[in-house]
Formats: sequence, structure tokens, C-alpha cells
Amino acid sequence: MLDYAFQYVNKVYFHIGGANTRSQIAITRIGAKKVREFTTKDNDTDYEYLIEKKDWQHKMVHAKSLSPKQAKQINDLWNEEYPLNLKDKFHLLLQGTEKYNHYVIEDTNNNVIAWATDFERENATWFSIIVSSEYKGKGLGKLLIEKLKSENTEFYGWVIDHNKNLKSNGEHYKTPMPFYLKQGFEILSDVRMETDIISAVKIKWKCNLTFI
Ligand SMILES: CC(C)(COP(=O)(O)OP(=O)(O)OC[C@H]1O[C@@H](n2cnc3c(N)ncnc32)[C@H](O)[C@@H]1OP(=O)(O)O)[C@@H](O)C(=O)NCCC(=O)NCCS
Repeated sequence: MLDYAFQYVNKVYFHIGGANTRSQIAITRIGAKKVREFTTKDNDTDYEYLIEKKDWQHKMVHAKSLSPKQAKQINDLWNEEYPLNLKDKFHLLLQGTEKYNHYVIEDTNNNVIAWATDFERENATWFSIIVSSEYKGKGLGKLLIEKLKSENTEFYGWVIDHNKNLKSNGEHYKTPMPFYLKQGFEILSDVRMETDIISAVKIKWKCNLTFI
């Protein structure tokens, strides 16, 4: 509901009964602040809570391993958001590596809405990322990439740089390349993965800061 509201307004107010402590706690947990106290005509004390768009953040969890529920939901996102050719290949991503992290963003019902991972393979750090269609364009992808940047000084990914593949819903998979260019990635145009399953180009992000 708040995701929908914040597409149109920057502030949402909640009027909560003074005796309804459960709702007061729940609303505070998602970033609301008590802004007003008033007396009703029945002489009860009620409260007004305010939640602002800038404070509306989904919970990001940094985890070494996924719960079975998270693994299933990420597998579902993988199958929905990536091209059909990659269907059911999520479990292969981290095969053969023991150094990896998951960054999971969940909605208030603890359902995964976005996920990223970084992992080590052949002495380099690689990543993968998915944002659920329903939540695209709300800054979650950028948030996850910023997290990866804060954890790594250099990392790589394979990116499909064309719109030829189909997704499971029959629509074309749109290349996310404009997103990566905005996040400061370099395209290594001469390094490509060309197989029966995927045609992709290697991208790189490197921290530009030098420490003296
Ligand atoms: C690519 C992806 C991770 C982007 O996540 P997102 O949450 O929609 O992106 P954000 O809302 O954080 O966007 C950040 C910026 O990039 C821009 N952007 C995002 N996707 C874009 C696209 N496809 N084309 C152009 N710009 C795009 C946004 O407009 C925003 O710009 P701004 O900072 O100027 O406002 C998401 O679309 C996705 O999961 N796609 C399907 C799976 C996938 O392709 N993963 C990557 C595999 S390599």
C-alpha cells in the first residue's frame, strides 16, 4: 500500500487509537514517527503518525546463507525475471564457491522483493542481482549495487546486452545495460560469453578512491 501511495505523495499520515499499542509499534517499526496527540470526543487520547517517503525503506538483510523460503522465492524471481534459457539455473550460480554473501530485501510480509549476491570465482568477485518486476524503478537495484560497492573494491558481472531473449511470461527480456552505465560500470566489450544459452558481455566496477 505504501509503495503505491509513495508513487504520488511524499507523506502519509496514520490516525491510530491510543489503546491500539500493537499498531503503534508496527507503524514505528516501518519508519513512522508520532507527530500529534489529540483528545477524541469520547475523551480518549489518539495519535497521528507520519511516514515520509525518504524514511520508507525496505529491510535489507546481509546473510551468508538463505532460508528455504528465501531460496525458493529468489528461485521464483530468477525464473520470472531472467530469460527462459536460464530457467531453473539459479542453484548453479554459487556451485563450486564457498565465498559468497546474499543481500536480500523483503517487504513487510517478509517476502523477497529484491536480491543480490557477491561471490568469489577464479580469484575475482562476481555478482548477480534481481529486482521483482513489481518493484522495479523504485531505487532498490541502485541500493543493492551501492551495498555491493561498499563491500567490494572491484567486481564483475555478465550482462545480456540485447533484447532477443524471451522471458517465461512471453515478453522480451530487456537488457539492463543502461542501469549499469548509470551505476558507473565499465563495459569490457571484447570479453563475451557466447553459448547456446546466453550471449552476454562482461562488465566491471572498480572503486576509484585512492588511499594515501
Ligand atoms: C536491472 C535491475 C536490477 C534494475 O533495478 P531497479 O530497482 O529497477 O533500478 P533502480 O530503480 O534502482 O534504478 C536506478 C537508476 O537506473 C535507471 N534504470 C533502471 N533500469 C533501467 C533500464 N532498464 N533502462 C534505463 N534506465 C534504467 C533508473 O531510471 C534509475 O535512474 P535515476 O537514478 O536517474 O533515477 C532490474 O531491472 C532487474 O532486476 N531486472 C531483471 C533482472 C536483471 O536483468 N538483472 C541484471 C542481470 S545482469
